[in-house]
Amino acid sequence: MAIYEIQHPLVKHKMGLMRKAELSTKSFRELAQEVATLLTYEATKDFELEHTSVEGWCGKVVVQKIAGKKVTVVPILRAGIGMLDGVLALIPGAKVSAVGIARNEETLQADTYLKKLAGEIDQRMAIIIDPMLATGGSLIATIDMLKAAGCKDIRALTLVSAPEGIAKVTTAHPDVDIYTAAIDQCLNEDGYIIPGLGDAGDRLFGTR
Ligand code: PRP
Ligand code: URA
Repeated sequence: MAIYEIQHPLVKHKMGLMRKAELSTKSFRELAQEVATLLTYEATKDFELEHTSVEGWCGKVVVQKIAGKKVTVVPILRAGIGMLDGVLALIPGAKVSAVGIARNEETLQADTYLKKLAGEIDQRMAIIIDPMLATGGSLIATIDMLKAAGCKDIRALTLVSAPEGIAKVTTAHPDVDIYTAAIDQCLNEDGYIIPGLGDAGDRLFGTR
């Protein structure tokens, strides 16, 4: 597994804005989608191309198109929904596989409550999206689920990742690449990322 912390200035700038506690729900939502688009750009740089030709204004033109696998985007509900439109902006034809996982705030265990995977998922590349990679439990549960369904090519996009969670996912799933906008310092005793964003789901949905 490789972890890629994206260094693009726009990503750094937008993440800086998102860290402000006083930011409105509207702005937090917009920025989450914008950063998701930038992460998608980075995470798709190795997509294979093939040649084809089209009828252009002055005759046949050889062009390139994305070859190979179809994509499914896998938002981990609920907070992953906050990145979905940002990813679909660049991959509009992707099928969406919704996975419902809630972290038990007492035990920090990931409890699965929904699994609605796209058809032929074993032939698709899966791009998991979740703003926060904290202990890693939610991401590992999602990867386990996708692999059990036959998925062989999996990558993940996160806004903020904690070193503890990265280490856990690396050990459990060394074949999965993670693209993140920020690797932060650590987890606190409640399993929140420091400095992090706070509760990303609550900030995206305006709950609490
Ligand atoms: C948050 C976050 C991740 C998970 C990360 O979701 O969006 O899914 O916690 O923590 P972990 O790495 O320790 O598993 P939460 O369970 O709070 O649910 P929500 O999306 O409904 O807010
Ligand atoms: N979930 C969040 O929303 N934030 C954290 O810091 C950890 C888990």
